Amino acid sequence: MSTISNPDFNTITEGKTKLLVPQATANLGPGTKSSVFYNPAMVTNRDVSVLYARCRAKKGWRVLDGLGGTGARGVRLAVETDLDLNIHINDRSTEAFEVISKNIEMNNLEGITATQLELFSLLPTEKFDWIDIDPYGSPVNYVDPAVQRLSKGGTLSVTATDTAPLCGTYVKACKRRYMARPMNSSCKHETGLRILVGNIIRRVAVMEIALTPELAYYQGHYFRCYFSAEKGAKPADRQLEKIGYLELKGGEYSIRTDLPKGKRWAGPLWLGDLMKKRLVKRMLAAVDKAMSKDTVHLLECLEEELLQPPYHYHTDDLAKLLKMEPLKTRKAVEILCEKGSKASLVHYTTKGYRTEADFDKMKTLFSGRK
Ligand SMILES: C[S@@+](CC[C@H](N)C(=O)[O-])C[C@H]1O[C@@H](n2cnc3c(N)ncnc32)[C@H](O)[C@@H]1O
Repeated sequence: MSTISNPDFNTITEGKTKLLVPQATANLGPGTKSSVFYNPAMVTNRDVSVLYARCRAKKGWRVLDGLGGTGARGVRLAVETDLDLNIHINDRSTEAFEVISKNIEMNNLEGITATQLELFSLLPTEKFDWIDIDPYGSPVNYVDPAVQRLSKGGTLSVTATDTAPLCGTYVKACKRRYMARPMNSSCKHETGLRILVGNIIRRVAVMEIALTPELAYYQGHYFRCYFSAEKGAKPADRQLEKIGYLELKGGEYSIRTDLPKGKRWAGPLWLGDLMKKRLVKRMLAAVDKAMSKDTVHLLECLEEELLQPPYHYHTDDLAKLLKMEPLKTRKAVEILCEKGSKASLVHYTTKGYRTEADFDKMKTLFSGRK
């Protein structure tokens, strides 16, 4: 007998897909109680998954939406791509499983598998080309069993909503969960993302698996990372070479390979690139009209963003240091570029910019400017 009573559920359209979702969350957003989880604030997260699939997945890929909720992600991947993906949606909750089954039926999808299993018991039984982990809070508990079930060149994608530990509000929780020290500076979202990516790369290196970030970003209340997997001790070692620390001294960030001696630092964290620009470009080109404006905005910001160095500055911090009014962020970027140093905005904050210019040059260029 169904445990879902229809008045408690609404049919909505997300992207090009019809979805049955709990009424409270459809209207009121996250944090509202329902036995089945659906968060409308995660539309961009799922739009980006569809775009990733369109640009990166191959025909017939076996895809696991391991913590499905309403099945929104898996169902959208089936409806909104023409890749004949072999999709498996799982959730251990009885109500979620029922909603997933209804959403598959409502979209007339055939060949999708829905299961009501504990993810830890499902993972050892099958291999996949893409495993998605979208949990409450941190994804790290699922990473080790998931990565072992990936085919060669497969994709692992994870969401982390525990931004408070990663960004330095709860230092002990970050140390415990990610074996890294966070730093609550104006660059905290980038530092948090790099700690998450660094932790995942380090933990799978133990199994001689190398994960490379194809796209990792921050949006509002969560971090999201797509990794491609490669087997082998050498590639895993190469990734470990890009793990280090970030130190903040006198307003200046610097990279450290060993434990910093100063008071303000973060790490271990990932110092390499967080995205492949060509992929972002292709994803932007694959956007359709049914997708959210926030998705387009995010991808445009990512496309514009310089990849290195692995930190950014904040106009308010520089203004305080130089005892001046903050420059407009675009103006700061323009000044740097005019004077021959690469610079860009960043997607983490409207007041942030990244530049290859060294700190002293930046201070000289900004001093006394309006
Ligand atoms: C954040 S929600 C997933 C949201 C969904 N991916 C979406 O895009 O709307 C997490 C889901 O994982 C399920 N879950 C939590 N732990 C699980 C486990 N160990 N095995 C299987 N399902 C689990 C919960 O029932 C919940 O529906």
